[in-house]
Amino acid sequence: MPLVEVFNLVKSYPVRGRREHKRVVDDVSFSIERGKTLGIVGESGSGKSTIARLLLRLIEPDSGKIHLAGQDLVGASRHQLRLLRRKMQIVFQDPYAALNPRMRIEDIVGEPLLIYREASQAPGGIKEERQARILSALRSVGLDAAALPRYPHEFSGGQRQRINIARALILRPELVILDEPTSALDVSVSAQITHLLRELQRELHLTYVFITHSMPLVRYMADEILVLHRGRVVEHGGWQQICERPASAYTQALLQATPELPV
Ligand SMILES: Nc1ncnc2c1ncn2[C@@H]1O[C@H](COP(=O)(O)OP(=O)(O)O)[C@@H](O)[C@H]1O
Ligand SMILES: [Mg+2]
Repeated sequence: MPLVEVFNLVKSYPVRGRREHKRVVDDVSFSIERGKTLGIVGESGSGKSTIARLLLRLIEPDSGKIHLAGQDLVGASRHQLRLLRRKMQIVFQDPYAALNPRMRIEDIVGEPLLIYREASQAPGGIKEERQARILSALRSVGLDAAALPRYPHEFSGGQRQRINIARALILRPELVILDEPTSALDVSVSAQITHLLRELQRELHLTYVFITHSMPLVRYMADEILVLHRGRVVEHGGWQQICERPASAYTQALLQATPELPV
């Protein structure tokens, strides 16, 4: 059974000053096998982040279904949703905005443990387990104990994105949604982060949704690619097929718009 199955998802928003609604996600379907990466590629405004928010059920679809490990996400009760959400995490584009500047790294990375009441409340040994998990999450992204008492402003953009990834992984999720995780970073730092994400995927058997506007990046990261244009899927298939024999003129234009990256 695929980890994620999405059937005919539709989301529309009212257009300011007009009566009609605009479909920003229009009849989108896909599925993702465990341990694989679905790349979603499209230009700005094509509906990529809206799909991410729908997958996390931060917003409700107008219609359509989302299944996570066979369980219905759209019709889930609050209690079920809490259990399902625990399996999913997201890493956002902007590593500067995503971290609370007043919190120490230890508390930022450990926050999901508190939210889900894991290794958090009881005295004594539990606190040690909590600290061990925070440190292990930091180490998995290439940081160490020196980071624990420090604040976000003391870190570079790439390091901050590593901290975001550590926080996303601390609950050991199955699905990680990466919404343009490197587009605010320099090319060389971006390459380090995408390399790290691939290593983590292999080690932890993670399933990814990798969102980007860059064809070279999606080619590097994804097993299957979904090309999105104005909320609609214009093409969907294996990375080789999409990148080497694109069927749609839109995908061809995207390929021509982006030069090869040294990934
Ligand atoms: N809350 C909202 N209200 C109204 N329109 C929205 C809202 N969220 C997104 N949109 C519109 O939906 C379209 C797709 O947005 P988004 O999913 O953020 O695209 P992308 O991530 O591909 O850049 C855009 O035209 C955007 O303006
Ligand atoms: Mg977006």
